[in-house]
Amino acid sequence: MNTLSEHTKNILGLQLPTDPRWVSLAGLSLEAILTDHAYCEQKAALTCISLIQRYSDKVELVTQLAPIVTEEWGHFRLVLHELHRRGLKLGVQRRDEYVNRLIAFQQKGGSEEGRLLDHLLTMAMIEARSCERFKRLSEGLEDEYLRNFYRRFMESEAGHYALFIDLAELYNPKELVRKRWREWLEHEVLIMREIELRGDRIH
Ligand SMILES: [Fe+2]
Ligand SMILES: [Fe+2]
Repeated sequence: MNTLSEHTKNILGLQLPTDPRWVSLAGLSLEAILTDHAYCEQKAALTCISLIQRYSDKVELVTQLAPIVTEEWGHFRLVLHELHRRGLKLGVQRRDEYVNRLIAFQQKGGSEEGRLLDHLLTMAMIEARSCERFKRLSEGLEDEYLRNFYRRFMESEAGHYALFIDLAELYNPKELVRKRWREWLEHEVLIMREIELRGDRIH
């Protein structure tokens, strides 16, 4: 059953907790999970850069996301260091089915505001699910060092989730953000049910 506290559940809004078997699978394939995690951090940094490029006229967005680029790249370096410290290698980047499916749900046409909203909510969604997965790792991995390692990531990504929601509310009416976020949460459940549970993937 769901072991996330009500508090965490409320923060993230996720409708479907991760299958408890996932953390055991992840613990069995550390090189793969760390590699996948490293690329997730790299993609987070890259996406923040592309949002800054695309929405360069939005002062608050640019100001808020500039330091996140540095932070996500710092996360990438931490994970890379962890791989090397363990004598493991950064493997190849895989196709990210979870993120591809989220992108497929984004509004394609319509207003500029609507597309920006979906870009920000996509980021909030990835941060929320990553945070939930890191929480699982911080509680369920056997290696105590890694449990602490993942606790720090969990806290950081929770902050990013809140930041993307705040930005969404800055550029859109709150009620609209809430309505669209509920649609994202419902859609994410379908994605989570459809994609295979794999220990070598963060999501
Ligand atoms: Fe990160
Ligand atoms: Fe993040």
